[in-house]
Amino acid sequence: MQTRRATAFANSNIALLKYWGNRDEKLRLPANPSLSMNLAGLETRTTVEFVAGLGEDEVVIGGEAQTGRVKERVSAHLDHIRARAGMTLKARVESRNNFPAGAGLASSASAFAALTLAGAAAAGLALSESELSALARLGSGSAARSIPAGFVEWQVGETHDESFAFSIAPPDHWALVDVVAVISRAHKAVGSTSGHALAGTSPLQAARVATASVRLRRCREALLSRNFYEFAEVVEADSNIMHAVMMTSTPPLYYWQPLTLALMKSIREWRAEGVPVCFTIDAGPNVHCLCPAAAAPEVERRLRALGVTETLTAYPGGAAHLVNESKV
Ligand code: DP6
Repeated sequence: MQTRRATAFANSNIALLKYWGNRDEKLRLPANPSLSMNLAGLETRTTVEFVAGLGEDEVVIGGEAQTGRVKERVSAHLDHIRARAGMTLKARVESRNNFPAGAGLASSASAFAALTLAGAAAAGLALSESELSALARLGSGSAARSIPAGFVEWQVGETHDESFAFSIAPPDHWALVDVVAVISRAHKAVGSTSGHALAGTSPLQAARVATASVRLRRCREALLSRNFYEFAEVVEADSNIMHAVMMTSTPPLYYWQPLTLALMKSIREWRAEGVPVCFTIDAGPNVHCLCPAAAAPEVERRLRALGVTETLTAYPGGAAHLVNESKV
């Protein structure tokens, strides 16, 4: 019998240069190119099974049956896969993260990357990496970057097929660590999808987009040459300009908490003292502290001294991949 079931695994990723705002909301064609590092340690594992006779998609995440918006978003993504495969069967989806959802830890990135890969395989589609990345993008923009391995660039593209992410360096290119200072596990008030739609209301977004290619070049070069101090400056500048856009949107989006800002200031001081570390912050209060692996224990110690009680640690991660279920 034809296989209609597959399981896939994907890492989350942290944007080094941020995706914020779409040129085309429906297709999730981004306003600017972005760069990221896959995060081994922050993972989603998803099984998709297309089942004859099922009346509607069933979605279970972290052991809980989903209804409402989450289920609709998953179903809408399965519709893209079904349309491509010319099939109408509904699916059972079972997904698990090993990290908290909705706390600025990009759970949608690993979730939609794993869903795309498992769904495409279960539907019998044979897609290239760039086709999978473009397909994942329709579910969540940042998911496009969780398909390829290691350090990844997502090019804007003019059309659906052209807007995909590709690897610019493998995971072992640079032993960077992301020490995530978890400031809040609470679900964020305004998710990134609604946030992207507000980006254009900020007068700063046009300036941000116009200067993105300069930051992209600087960041890519610093990354490829492992120049940490140059990398640190451009990564922080890019995070700051995205948050400047967020804070000047209508309505404004304030994702930081007081401890977020305290850490941002301290991290710059630590770097001036010679500890190689920089920060980047997504649509949430948590601070991603990027540093070479050797500096991670010292960064962690300093974070705790400032009152951070929980950290998560992630390393450069590989590509999304299918899991051989007969071996699990
Ligand atoms: C701030 O990919 O979560 O993390 O496409 O609506 O799912 P949707 O948005 P999403 O946006 C990520 C925004 C960000 C920056 C980034 O990861 O580049």
